[in-house]
Amino acid sequence: MAEKIRAVKGMPDLSNPEIQSFQEIEQIARRFFESAGFSEIRTPILEDIALFKRSIGDATDIVEKEMYTLLDRNEKTLAMRPEGTASVVRAYIERYASREPEQRLYYLGPMFRYERPQKGRFRQFHQFGAEIFGVDDPYIDAELLNLATDFLDYLNIGNYRLEINSLGSKASRQEYVKILLKYLSEHQSQLCEKCLDRMFKNTLRVLDCKVSTCQEILKAAPSLLDHIDKESQKDFEQVQNLLNKLQVSFQINPRLVRGLDYYERTAFEFVSDDLGAQSAFAGGGRYNGLIKELGGPDLSAIGFAFGMERLASLYKQSKEKFLKRNLVFIPLGDASSEYCMQLMCSLRKQKLKNQFGEPIQLRAVTEYGDRSLKSKMKRANRFEADFVLILGDDELKSGTILFKEMSSGDQSEVLLSDISALLIDKLQKI
Ligand code: HAM
Repeated sequence: MAEKIRAVKGMPDLSNPEIQSFQEIEQIARRFFESAGFSEIRTPILEDIALFKRSIGDATDIVEKEMYTLLDRNEKTLAMRPEGTASVVRAYIERYASREPEQRLYYLGPMFRYERPQKGRFRQFHQFGAEIFGVDDPYIDAELLNLATDFLDYLNIGNYRLEINSLGSKASRQEYVKILLKYLSEHQSQLCEKCLDRMFKNTLRVLDCKVSTCQEILKAAPSLLDHIDKESQKDFEQVQNLLNKLQVSFQINPRLVRGLDYYERTAFEFVSDDLGAQSAFAGGGRYNGLIKELGGPDLSAIGFAFGMERLASLYKQSKEKFLKRNLVFIPLGDASSEYCMQLMCSLRKQKLKNQFGEPIQLRAVTEYGDRSLKSKMKRANRFEADFVLILGDDELKSGTILFKEMSSGDQSEVLLSDISALLIDKLQKI
């Protein structure tokens, strides 16, 4: 037998049930972001390598160690995009910056990073990202974060925290880097090898180190937030005030620095303990200098990207948490069919939760038509109904309905005026 050819390491095929979660999330994301004024952009997977070097930064892990690059037949070096922002900024400069500078763009697609594969970390992964161009205002930062949390809420993803920080202006950060470097130099002997390597190349990233001995040293390190410029401080305070007004919960993480060089001021990550070691499922921030840096006008921008694999994993877990309830209405006449239909439709609109606040997924159907009660009950059993409601036209006239609890077999006559409240109560309690 010929030797099997296997998928490339870290580049898994996507199949069901994961693909279904992707499709559902994508559909909801499109609807959500389009209703907030975003439109889709699709950029190519291959770009001139200079684009990523200049935007993400030469000294970052992504550019230094993780990019897939290739020489085309014309000896030009191309890179497979490791993220979406740089490509979208390039496209924005080419298409919109001079004509319609205020733009909201979103994108979906595969990204490539040569990282060490592990749970939640791949060499080909997918992002859903959103970028707002041309407006430098804390209102935009707050609105974008509110949109992201609403989106998560809609997906029923609740167990996460939003961590925010301000990276200040480029100039104030450079000053801080000098101060941090001085502090780290004084403690060099206690730092791990990775930190020693990063210290001179990408000093801020040392703040990210998870090694416990380094963490100890970092506890007493000068804080970035104490050294950012006055304007950025004011801006950060306003972002926080606005988030509070919008009731978006957040935590300030003064050590959050991100792995890409282009950020200024607001930076953030969404983190969940349900994901294991790769706990950040989205990240982003403001990048006011990047458009100019890439040859465009001096305009500002902010954005974020969700990692789809990690988001899909949270979405799957949240769906499993759904408590399923099945409800069948059995009308025995025309007038009662109409009544049951209305009651069922109004119940479907309810956002039901149990006493622990966990969402309940209601499946409710009505058995219309003039089949016998026996045949309708048979279908209710196949539907695994928790409750069955039987309504004849005579009962409708007298204002009652038969309510049957399938697990116990108990049944009782209930006033029509009470049935909706009783059902909601029962559905939330079992
Ligand atoms: P990032 O933090 O590098 O930011 O990536 C965003 C998200 O992509 C991460 O939070 C994570 O969920 C996911 N991700 C990154 N690398 C991998 C991997 N190897 N395997 C699986 N998932 C991964 C950016 O890419 C910025 N472009 C975000 C942004 C948009 N900033 C402003 N606008």
